[in-house]
Amino acid sequence: MNKYDVIVIGAGAAGLMCAIIAGQRGRSVLVVERANKVGKKILMSGGGRCNFTNLYVEPSNYLSTNPHFCKSALSRFTQWDFIDWVNRHGIAHHEKTLGQLFCDGSSKQIVAMLLAESEAVGVEIRTHCDLQKVTAEDDGGFNVQTNQGQYHSTSLVVASGGLSIPTLGGSGMGYQLAEQFGHQVLPQRAGLVPFTVTDQLTTLCTELSGVSLEAAVSCNNEQFRESILFTHRGLSGPAMLQISSYWQPGDSIVIDLLPDCDAAQWLAEQKQQQPKVLLRSLLGKYLPKRLVQQLQQLWWPQRVNSPLAEWPSEALLQVAKQLNHWSLKPAGTEGYRTAEVTLGGVNTDGLSSKTMESKQQPGLYFIGEVVDVTGHLGGFNFQWAWASGYAAGQVV
Ligand code: FDA
Repeated sequence: MNKYDVIVIGAGAAGLMCAIIAGQRGRSVLVVERANKVGKKILMSGGGRCNFTNLYVEPSNYLSTNPHFCKSALSRFTQWDFIDWVNRHGIAHHEKTLGQLFCDGSSKQIVAMLLAESEAVGVEIRTHCDLQKVTAEDDGGFNVQTNQGQYHSTSLVVASGGLSIPTLGGSGMGYQLAEQFGHQVLPQRAGLVPFTVTDQLTTLCTELSGVSLEAAVSCNNEQFRESILFTHRGLSGPAMLQISSYWQPGDSIVIDLLPDCDAAQWLAEQKQQQPKVLLRSLLGKYLPKRLVQQLQQLWWPQRVNSPLAEWPSEALLQVAKQLNHWSLKPAGTEGYRTAEVTLGGVNTDGLSSKTMESKQQPGLYFIGEVVDVTGHLGGFNFQWAWASGYAAGQVV
């Protein structure tokens, strides 16, 4: 049987980082990857340019049942550490918006960097290698059965990711292993995912398909101010993806279409200053015209041709409230088919926040997305993968 110090399951961001750091410490490392190539999500990410980290990483950018869990790992391998790697490999990059760092060229450069670092320290990577069964051995190590044979290791690192986008490797294997070794696995759901709609909203979204604007979107005491995008399927764009991670089925989301403005006060002023103007014309200066047309049909179909002077104050106030507080109930989300991340997963209670080692089974580690730590949109998920991979890589 082939023996290694460390076997890592999954050659994604977290698994490769862990393998490299362990390799740098002189450990013999095997990475088993069931896909035909490594780092598929890295390759697909950021529209092919990989949003590999964020300049403003804070623990508050992460969702977890234990919001403190991520702090230790994030503080010991920071965004600056990863930026150093990227610079050392001469990968040109830029800040797109809100601290989000992207490659100027291609995500392939990040995968090439990870492969070069792996090779430099003798990490062995097996693709098309599907994990079938793991058993703990009497010597404290692990027997790992795959479609390519059996291997033995002293440490076993589960970096098999979440359920999102099965065609890019999403699998429930990590959760099964966690349960096998007595860990609690928290319910999973799709995050950073577009909303779907039904009924009246379907017509609205179809009519507005392609319209985007900046807005503030809220749900369950969280708010994100970024672009929203209407699509023929529903609601998308960064602000919608962000809030989807906080949304539960049945919840409404609230859109503030004029986040810089108290619409009630502003419309009252405009009624005095521009009494002859139509509400449609006034709003059309600040919001996409196609959106204003639809809002008009929804909110003031009887006053389409009424100048502001003819509007009763109460009616104007009602529209103002809707503009700052448009409440919509999505039917659901597009689910794992398009979700960027999986919320929930291996309960952090059962893991050391310093090393990611299982408290139940010495030598077993869980890193990356399989753990109940999920970042906001904007490079935070990769930073968690690098940081948690680094934390385990230092001790396996
Ligand atoms: P990841 O899923 O990357 O890797 C797990 C690996 O394990 C896979 O290669 C899989 O094939 C393998 N595996 C699973 N089961 C196995 C088994 N039984 N045997 C062997 N191997 C197995 N984040 C971000 O910060 N910036 C961004 O720009 C983007 N963009 C983005 C776009 C898209 C389309 C998606 C789907 C996701 C993103 N993300 C992102 C999220 C980010 O990709 C994600 O959080 C990390 O890739 C998670 O890294 P992991 O290594 O934990 O899992």
